[in-house]
Amino acid sequence: MKRLFLATSCLAVLALSACQDGQTVEAGNTVDELTQAAVTPAEQRPTVQDAREFLDAAERDIVANGIIGARAAWINANFVTEDTNALVAQTSADGAKLSTRLANEAKRFNGVSLPVDMRRKIDMLKRGSNFPAPNRPGAAEELSEIMAGLDATYATGKFNIDTDNPKIKDVLGEVEGDTINLGEATRLLAQLRDPELTQQVWEGWRTVSPPMKNDYARMVELINEGAQELGYDDAGALWRAGYDMDADAFATEVDRLWGQVSPLYDQLHCFVRGELNETYGNDVVPLDEPIRADLLGNMWAQTWGNIYDVVEPADAGAGVDVTALLKDQDYDALKMVETAEGFFESMGFAPLPDTFWERSLITKPQDREVQCHASAWNLDGQDDVRIKMCTEVTGEDFDTVHHELGHNFYQRAYKNQPVFYQSGANDGFHEAIGDMIALSITPDYLVQIGLLDEADVPGEDADIALLLRAAMDKVAFLPFGLLVDKWRWQVFDGTLSPDEYNDGWWALREQYQGIQVPDERSANAFDPGAKYHIPGNTPYMRYFLSYILQFQFHKAACDQAGFEGPLHRCSVYGNTDVGARFNAMLEMGQSKPWPDALEAFTGTRDMDGSAILEYFAPLMTYLETQNEGRTCGWDRGASE
Ligand code: ASP
Ligand code: SER
Ligand code: ZN
Repeated sequence: MKRLFLATSCLAVLALSACQDGQTVEAGNTVDELTQAAVTPAEQRPTVQDAREFLDAAERDIVANGIIGARAAWINANFVTEDTNALVAQTSADGAKLSTRLANEAKRFNGVSLPVDMRRKIDMLKRGSNFPAPNRPGAAEELSEIMAGLDATYATGKFNIDTDNPKIKDVLGEVEGDTINLGEATRLLAQLRDPELTQQVWEGWRTVSPPMKNDYARMVELINEGAQELGYDDAGALWRAGYDMDADAFATEVDRLWGQVSPLYDQLHCFVRGELNETYGNDVVPLDEPIRADLLGNMWAQTWGNIYDVVEPADAGAGVDVTALLKDQDYDALKMVETAEGFFESMGFAPLPDTFWERSLITKPQDREVQCHASAWNLDGQDDVRIKMCTEVTGEDFDTVHHELGHNFYQRAYKNQPVFYQSGANDGFHEAIGDMIALSITPDYLVQIGLLDEADVPGEDADIALLLRAAMDKVAFLPFGLLVDKWRWQVFDGTLSPDEYNDGWWALREQYQGIQVPDERSANAFDPGAKYHIPGNTPYMRYFLSYILQFQFHKAACDQAGFEGPLHRCSVYGNTDVGARFNAMLEMGQSKPWPDALEAFTGTRDMDGSAILEYFAPLMTYLETQNEGRTCGWDRGASE
C-alpha cells in the first residue's frame, strides 16, 4: 500500500524520510558542507535559537501544506479524472518546492552544535524527500505532473479478453463487453487453472504499462538531479540513507537478512515447482527452470496462497480456508473492517472515530475511476484516519484490511509527536504493524469471533497444512520484496538504461524469485510498470523489512503473553498487556532511531530473520523431506 501521511506533498517532505546518524550533533552531509561550516566565522554562524525558530516555522508550513495536499490526493484517488490529476499535480509541486526549500535552508545549520533532537529534525529536513524535485523553475511542476499521470494510468488500466470463454465466465460471471480491469484480472489469476488463459490474463494486464516507460525514464532523470542537489549520488542512495544508518550498510543489511531466509524460500520454491509440474506437466513447468510467473495465483507472483489447492499435500491434514469461512458467514467488506478494528480494540486501542466510517472507501464504486490499490491515510495528522480499498470477501483481503488498519492505528498512536516524527520508526515498521496483528488470526481466534466452529479447529496433524498455506504468502513474498527496489536502485544509478529496464527486471525476477516470463516479451514491454508501486512511486524495500519484522514482533508479543506452543498457534487477541507495550513503540513514531523503537517492544536492536525461520521450522523439515530426490534450484545456482 501507499501510506499517505499528511499529504503526498508533505510526504515528500517528511513521511518517507528518515535521518542520518541521530547521535551526531554537528553533522553535515558531505565533506564540502563540513569544510564550509568550519570556515564560517563563529559570529556569523546561526545559533540554536535560530534553528529552533527555523524548525517551528518549518513545522507550520509542513502542516499547512500537508492538509491541502492530502485532501487533493484523497479526492484524486477517489475520483481519478483529468481535473483531479491536474489538481494533485499542483499541490504535489507545491509540496516538492517546500521540501526543496527546507532542505536547502536546513544546510545553514551544518557545523552548528545542536541538541540531539533538533539535529535529528534538521537532518531529516536535509534529506528532502524520496522524490526530490530539482531546484530550478518548472522542475517541480514537471515532476509532479509525470507522477500524477503514471499513477492515473495504473488506476485506470484495462485490457481486452474473451469474456465469453466459459472458464472466464465461471470466475467473473456476466461481464459487459470484453474489457476487464485489474480487480477482475486478479480474480482470474487466483482462480483459473488453465495455463493458456492465465498467460492471456498475465500478458493482458501488462499492456497497460508500455505507455508509462518514457515518462518513467524522464522522472528518473528529474529525481536523480534533485537527489544530487541534496548531496547524494543518485535517488537510490537517497532512499538507502533513510534508515538511521549508512546507506551502503543498509544495502548490506538487506542482503544479510535475505541470506538468513533464502534457504527456506529455496525449499518452498522446489516443492511448489514439483507440485505444479505434477499438475501441468513438463512442457509447462520444466523441473530445472524458473517457474512461469502466470501460474502462481497472483499477478506479480508475489504471494502464492491462491494456488494452495494445487500444492496441498494429501497427507497434510485439513487447514483453514478463511475465504470460505467469511463467505459461509455472510461477511461483507464492512464487517471485515469492523472485525479487524475489534482486534485492535481487544488489545486496548480506542475504537476508530466515526469519521473513519463516514469517510473511508471500503468497496469499489461502480460509477467512476478510483485508485483501487489499498491504502491508509491520515488527512490531518490527528484523528482523520481513513482507508481506501476495493475490498473483496477473501482471506487475502481480510489480511489486507488488518494491514491497512495497522497504518491507521500507528498514525493515531504517534499523532502527538511533532510533525517531523509522525512516521514509522522506519518505513518497514509501518508496513509490519497490521501484518503482525494478522499473524494472530489463528484457528482458535477464529473460533473466538465465531467464524469457525470449535469442532473444526485443525489438530496438530494439520500444522503442516496451516504452515504451508502461510508460507505460500509470507515466504514466497520475500525475494519479491527484496528485488523491486534492487531494480529501482539499478535504474537510479544508471546500471540499467531505459532500453534495459525490462530485461533488468526479469534478470532480478529470475535470480531472486526463480520465476520467468510465460513467453518472450515484446521490445516495448515495461513490466515493472504493471506493479502498482512503480507508477505509484512507493518505495518497496519497506515490505521486505516488514516481512522480517512482523515475525519478530509476533514472537516478542507471544513471549510477552507467556504463550507456550508453536508460534503459528499463538494469538494475542484480547491481550491488553501486549497492547500497552505495542502502543509504547507505536507512539514513539520516528522520534528516535528505529533500533530504539525495536528495543522498546522486542528487547533487541537488530532486525533478524530468525523469528520467521522459527515460525516455519516444522515446515522446513517437511519440505526438505518432500524435496529429497528432486532437483531444486535453477541456473542462478542450484540449491542442492
Ligand atoms: N498492503 C498492500 C500494500 O502495502 C496493499 C495491497 O496490496 O492491497 O501495498
Ligand atoms: N502490499 C504490498 C503489495 O501489494 C506488499 O504486500 O505489493
Ligand atoms: Zn501498507
